[in-house]
Amino acid sequence: MDSARLCRCVFGLMVVGLVGLPQVVLGGRRCNFPAIYNFGDSNSDTGGISAAFAALHPPNGETFFGHPSGRYCDGRLIIDFIAEELKLPLLSAYLDSVGTNFRHGANFATGGSSILPGGYSPFHLGIQMSQFIQFKSRISALYTQLSPSAGTTPPFKSFLPRPKDFSNALYTIDIGQNDLSYGFQHTTIEQVRLSIPNILSQFFQAVHQLYKEGARVFWVHNTGPIGCLPYTVIYGRSKPGNLDQNGCVKPQNEVAQEFNRQLKERVFQLRADLPGAAFTYVDVYSAKYALISSAKNEGFVDPFEFCCGSFYGYHIDCGKKAIINGTVYGNPCHNPSMHISWDGIHYSESANLWIANRILNGSFSDPPVSIGETCFLYQ
Ligand SMILES: *[C@@H]1O[C@H](CO)[C@@H](O)[C@H](O)[C@H]1NC(C)=O
Ligand SMILES: *[C@@H]1O[C@H](CO)[C@@H](O)[C@H](O)[C@H]1NC(C)=O
Repeated sequence: MDSARLCRCVFGLMVVGLVGLPQVVLGGRRCNFPAIYNFGDSNSDTGGISAAFAALHPPNGETFFGHPSGRYCDGRLIIDFIAEELKLPLLSAYLDSVGTNFRHGANFATGGSSILPGGYSPFHLGIQMSQFIQFKSRISALYTQLSPSAGTTPPFKSFLPRPKDFSNALYTIDIGQNDLSYGFQHTTIEQVRLSIPNILSQFFQAVHQLYKEGARVFWVHNTGPIGCLPYTVIYGRSKPGNLDQNGCVKPQNEVAQEFNRQLKERVFQLRADLPGAAFTYVDVYSAKYALISSAKNEGFVDPFEFCCGSFYGYHIDCGKKAIINGTVYGNPCHNPSMHISWDGIHYSESANLWIANRILNGSFSDPPVSIGETCFLYQ
């Protein structure tokens, strides 16, 4: 941890070493974030891609919502546990036009999104930025229109964020996994590695744009161990010596780690560039890898088994079923909470909760501050 920087930047902040672990003591104060604005891919999509294209099928959503909620999961995602931790409602997707409430923020993340254009989804990070900018300016205009005559104010005003809340909101970002996986599918490992600086330039620009719009507190997830996804393992283990001691595909994970190393550098650069902004870099990679490597001890089944869909014998996506030669493919498992992977690519609710419990208190963050205290990290 860069403790010198913290001391310089934060009023009343003490950094003390307890049992060798740096701890940041912020006097027990809690940030009062009025809203969360999130950008990303399916790891944090709470219904965007589903609203834009086609609804997800059951059993997605079965554990928590009781029906498909637009999440690629049996229940809640890490972004949902972030909202709960901050005592805010779960985020509505910006692209969802039914039953949405943006009072406490909006979610621009959509499944398949990458940082660079030209991947799996049209809603790359640049589009998510322009959606956010349009959202913010339309809210500001609408709010002014509705303000003067409180008596006739339609109730939907309470579903809109207050313009002043944009600068006090928490901005969360979790994106990049699809840039890597799209690259692995269409180019070579080496080409993906070489493309990282370009990918991160776009990320860097997007954050500058958010800052220009008034965003000040950022919570940035790095990318997960893509080589540990069952999908990657099934399609990537062919080469001998490709797997590490935990059964994850090494070359893919090495590229993810290189991406994260450069992402962290960019975040440090952003800290230097943008006065008055607070950046927390969260090592989600290590949290996920810790879970995968201790699956058994943590009460999970083999981390490469997954609950919904099938890539073995016959490939079938979660939510579909097929009978091939008398065998039924696509029946979900009976114990999703014991699976780390929900559908071979996305994590289960219980895995998301395990990870959230470890990242939200700051133990995987730089600086190691809990999410409820990140607003005090102003420079
Ligand atoms: C189904 O049976 C046919 C004929 O025996 C065989 O060619 C095919 O590979 C089988 N498919 C699967 C998914 O097992
Ligand atoms: C954060 O929570 C995890 C899981 O409960 C715990 O193991 C860890 O020690 C905590 N870290 C801090 C810094 O509080």
